[in-house]
Parts: sequence; structure tokens; C-alpha cells
Amino acid sequence: MHFEPGHTVGIDLGTTFSAIAILDDEGRPRVIPNDDGEIETASVILLAESGHVIVGPNRMRAAMEDPQNVIERIKRYMGMPDYRRTFDGREISPEFISALILKKLRQDAEKQIGKIGNAVITVPYYFNDARRKATQDAGRIAGLNVIDIMNEPTAATLTYAYKEGILGNPEVRVDKPRKVLVYDLGGGTFDVTVVEYTPTQFRVLATDGDVQLGGVDWNDRLLDYVADTFKQRHGIDPRESPQMIQILRNDCDLAKIELSEKTETVIHCRYEGRAIDVPITRELFDQLTADLLQRTADTTLLVLEEARVRPEELEAIVLVGGSTLMPQVPAMIRRILNREPYRGISPHTAVAEGAAIHAAILEAKYRGEQSVLAERIRRRLQLVQQENVNSHGLGIVALDPKTGKTINHVMIPRNSRIPIEVRRIFKTTKDNQERITVQVLEGDAPDPFACSLLGKCRITDLPPNLPKGSPVEVTYAFSAQGRVIVTARDKTSGREARIEIERRGVLAEEEVDALKRLADEYKVD
Ligand SMILES: Nc1ncnc2c1ncn2[C@@H]1O[C@H](COP(=O)(O)OP(=O)(O)OP(=O)(O)O)[C@@H](O)[C@H]1O
Ligand SMILES: [Mg+2]
Repeated sequence: MHFEPGHTVGIDLGTTFSAIAILDDEGRPRVIPNDDGEIETASVILLAESGHVIVGPNRMRAAMEDPQNVIERIKRYMGMPDYRRTFDGREISPEFISALILKKLRQDAEKQIGKIGNAVITVPYYFNDARRKATQDAGRIAGLNVIDIMNEPTAATLTYAYKEGILGNPEVRVDKPRKVLVYDLGGGTFDVTVVEYTPTQFRVLATDGDVQLGGVDWNDRLLDYVADTFKQRHGIDPRESPQMIQILRNDCDLAKIELSEKTETVIHCRYEGRAIDVPITRELFDQLTADLLQRTADTTLLVLEEARVRPEELEAIVLVGGSTLMPQVPAMIRRILNREPYRGISPHTAVAEGAAIHAAILEAKYRGEQSVLAERIRRRLQLVQQENVNSHGLGIVALDPKTGKTINHVMIPRNSRIPIEVRRIFKTTKDNQERITVQVLEGDAPDPFACSLLGKCRITDLPPNLPKGSPVEVTYAFSAQGRVIVTARDKTSGREARIEIERRGVLAEEEVDALKRLADEYKVD
């Protein structure tokens, strides 16, 4: 692991809000506010003029702006090669857009703490490989040396352990590991994770989630309700106008936040010279979103089952993400787990703070004396060990001997502890086979088409006259950093093929450099 000169920070790159944090001289995680003094910066980009963007603009200003000049919710598209958007006269990628957000965070923070060289950036546990790589590229385009991509719930667990005074503290005696469940419902994504820990060992037992479920979906339910009511009354649909959608999304978000405090609110909608006021009670809001909440409840129970942990065994149920401030969330937790959730950490900043802790742990371990951290803090952090599981299974396309159909033969099931190496023998399927192709799949479904193809490796010059059923040994190795290396070996000839997974939608090194130059040119406010 290499470090660039300058500070090492933790960054929570969120769907709706992002935050940057660092460990202070006392070893406390501290969020660095932006130029406006806010601890979170909206992950919204507004094109002010050519070559000039405003990141995290004033809410009302963004809502009134021409939708062509506004980009939001970009995290939903990370790692998707098909994303197309023209902005400022050029085609831009989610990596580039995210880099502008990161540049803003870095730039504002540097005014307060000085040069930032390195960063840990967080992602939802359920992000697949391509999305993780895209996040890493975004960091590099923003001029950051990304020392690690970290899972958001793991970050929240570190913050929890820190707040409870346990993290790296050798004076805390534990007779057996403690277990916590992290329920993270943010703006665009949802994760549940069960972690087992001691002061110096953090081990993820199971995880699951949904990268397309978050506060914005709750907003959209309100939006649809308001638009449907409008249409019934006036016969026209405000959703026909992208501008109206933008305005309504903002109003619905505000109404939803208001419903966390009050039991009733009104959403006003004016379109094409006609207007209505739609009253919304908390009860109605809960009804409109009941199925979304239920999806999170189902996942929570499933993850506990996979972790083989009973609710009574949990030391705490930690709520993270702004959307857990909706009263329906703690109410559901009480209902299904019969427990009061823990409220000791900020659902807005816990992830950024945890990323800062993780960044400092890496700094303490790999930068040693060169680190700006005080000796005492370094010693304590050096003790902390972390273990993860993989959030997606890894399989191989194989022929089912019984049905003759191709299937996904899972080599490494999801929730396996990493690093891991798995070896299996497969057989050639016909006489005189000349080549073997290993197709690496990401996913746990038996049907290969329900999974994504991560890469292929091929042994082309097999020895002649190889009989059907000759053994081929396939090895999958999954490193702690999330890298996948696949090897296939023909046992007869000893010939071997090997790939380190080439990710889909990946930017080449030169492309990243070119985008970095472009991002440098952009004025970001
Ligand atoms: N008081 C509140 N009541 C209800 N919802 C809230 C409240 N405050 C914030 N939210 C919602 O929380 C969401 C933002 O949460 P958060 O900042 O944790 O998400 P994020 O980090 O941007 O997203 P993600 O982690 O999914 O990428 C928004 O949808 C916002 O409407
Ligand atoms: Mg978040």
C-alpha cells in the first residue's frame, strides 16, 4: 500500500449526501464541514456555466434550475457502462460526475486542514465489483490516492465501537465476542450487516441489501400520490414535465422529513396554471410505503438467519442513514426484533467517521513513523484487525451432467469469509477437446443469465487425443482487497491459464488520467 504526501481522510460518497472526515489529534473522528459550514454536502451537481459547476447547491435553486443542467442520484449509476448523459457539451460518465463531488469535498476540507493526499471511500456492502472499481476510479479522477474502498456498514460499526469506548482499547475485557446488527437506510441504498467484534477484531458474519432502495423511493411514492391526485382533479399529469418532477421530488423530500416530526403536512402542487393542496398524514405516508419498509424487514430477518444469530444475542441494533429517522423504521425494528434500536451515533455522519477511523488504522499500520498520528493513537489502532465476507457469490459456467444444460456452479458462495481460495476439478465434455474456457460469474442464482459475467480465461492448446472426462482443476482466489484471481489447469498436460478479473465498464489507466486533467480544469464551487 502506498501513501501520497498529505492527510489521509475518510469519505462517505452518498446517493443524496456526502461527507468527509478525519481523525483529530486526540484520535477522535471529526467531520470536516464544507465552505457553507455544513457537515454534509448534497450529492447534486449544477452546471453554472461552461467549465464551472456548483456541487451541493442550495436546494431551492437546484429544484428551479433547468433539469438539463442538474445531476443527482449519480451513485445509482456507478459502474453501469450504459449510462449516457451529456453535460456541458460532452458525454460524461458516473465516475467523472462523482469525481466532481469528491473534488468539492477535498477542496473545501483542504482549506481547513491542508493538503489531502489519500482517502478511504465507502460503498454499500452490496456494491458489486464493477461499482467498487468505478468508485475507486472516481477518487483517482478527483486527484486522491484511494487506499481502500470500504463497506459502509463496516465503517458504521467502527464508529459504534469507538463511541462505546471499545475500539482498540486493551483495557476493555470481553469474555466473548459481541454482536451488533447495522441497519443502514440511506438516500438510495439499503444494507443490513451482522458484525461480531472484540476491541481488536471485527468480523462480518453476514450481509445483504439492495442498491436500489432508499429514501428517494419513499419520496417517489409521495410524488406519485400527489401527481395521481392532481391528474384526477385536473386531468393532466405533472409528471409529464421533467422540471415538475424535479420540483415535486424536492417538495416531497421536505414533506417526508417534516412527517418525521409532525403527524400531518400538506404538499402544494401547481402546474399549467392549475393547483392543488394535498394533505398527507403520517399514517397515509406509512401506508403508501409499507411494502418498501417490509422489504427491509425481510432482509433484516434473513441476514440474522444467515449469520445464525438470534435477536436476543445482539448487543445493539445500530441505525445508520438519514432514512432511519422516519418513525416507521424504529417501529418496525421493535415489531420484528422486539428490541429498542441504538441511537448513540449520528445516522448522517457515522459512515464518514468510520471511514476516517479505517483510514487512520491503515495509516497506522502502513505508514508507521511517517504518519501524522500521535504515537499513542497509532499503537492503539495498529491492534485492530478486520475481516470481511463477500457480498456476491462467484461461480463458473458448467454443464449439468444430468440435464445437459449450462448452470452457474457456485465456487465461492456469498457471505464467505475473505480471503478465500477454492479449488474444484471439472471434466472436459467431449473427446479431443482443443480448448477450455472458464467463464467467471458474479451471482448466486443457478441460471447463468441471472448472473453477470465477470471475465473469461482460456486454455487453447490442449494436448491432442484428450479423452472426454479429462480433469481440469479450477481455482478461485478472492483476496481481502476484493480482487479475484482465477486459474485453470489441465491436469494432463499441466497447461495453465490465469486471469485477474478484468472488470466490466472499467476505465483504462490513460482514460483515468485524461479525465483527471478534465476534472482539474473544472471550476468547482
Ligand atoms: N429527518 C428525516 N426524516 C426522514 N428522512 C430523512 C430525514 N433526514 C434525512 N432523511 C432522508 O435520508 C436520506 C439521506 O440519507 P443519507 O445521507 O444517509 O443517504 P446517502 O448517504 O446520501 O445515501 P446512500 O447511503 O444510500 O448512498 C434522504 O432520502 C433524506 O430524505
Ligand atoms: Mg450513506
